[in-house]
Amino acid sequence: METGYEPLNVLKPIGPDIWIVDGPAIRFYGMPFSTRMTVVRLQNGDLWLHSPTVFDESLAAALRAMGQVSHLIAPNWIHYAYVAEWKEAFPEALTYAAPGVAKRAKSRGVQISFDHELRAAQAEEAWQGEIEQMVVQGSRIHHEAVFFHTRSRTLVLTDLIENFEAQNIPWWMRLFAKPAHILAPDGQMPRDMRMTFRGRYNRLRKAVETMIGWAPERIIIAHGRWFDSGAVAELRRAFRFVLK
Ligand SMILES: [Fe+2]
Repeated sequence: METGYEPLNVLKPIGPDIWIVDGPAIRFYGMPFSTRMTVVRLQNGDLWLHSPTVFDESLAAALRAMGQVSHLIAPNWIHYAYVAEWKEAFPEALTYAAPGVAKRAKSRGVQISFDHELRAAQAEEAWQGEIEQMVVQGSRIHHEAVFFHTRSRTLVLTDLIENFEAQNIPWWMRLFAKPAHILAPDGQMPRDMRMTFRGRYNRLRKAVETMIGWAPERIIIAHGRWFDSGAVAELRRAFRFVLK
């Protein structure tokens, strides 16, 4: 299945010490969702893998040549599926999960344990000073950890913005992508996720304001077209439903 982001499972440099990997599509509620991982090389050479895509041996070899795979991040309750495969290949790597991930994995019978739960308002020591970190508050279900790689001025989101391009999705998915708010170029927070923030938009707004305050230049997202420039304007556009 083509995703529109080929080649897949290869490192694509997007800035200093930061790469993306476009992975194969997964099925989510029957829909094909393209996947994307972000890789950051920390100053000590350690590699930080955010929302790992499916394990791939040649990709693993490319990473080994670049540094030590040290940190595997499951940034929200849905994005943990491939962490175990990467941990198996890199047993010395530490695993980190957003709040709710461990519970969700257990409820689905997935055997995975995490070394750390990601802190809500402070980066882990291992990447402090290089990557900012915050768990977005306000949702009853979706607790997503978001990151900002200072050196490349890149905001790393997962599902908070989804931005599917019409030419990359089946016709039947196009029909509801727009009402679901996830159709490029105006991809935003999906409608169903928005409902989990109902009555608590003030907390979401605060998180968006913090992200804007980081003054990012680009935004990586897991699904659909990411934003290689104009990040602050894109945040204002995508979160206009919550900003004043
Ligand atoms: Fe996702």
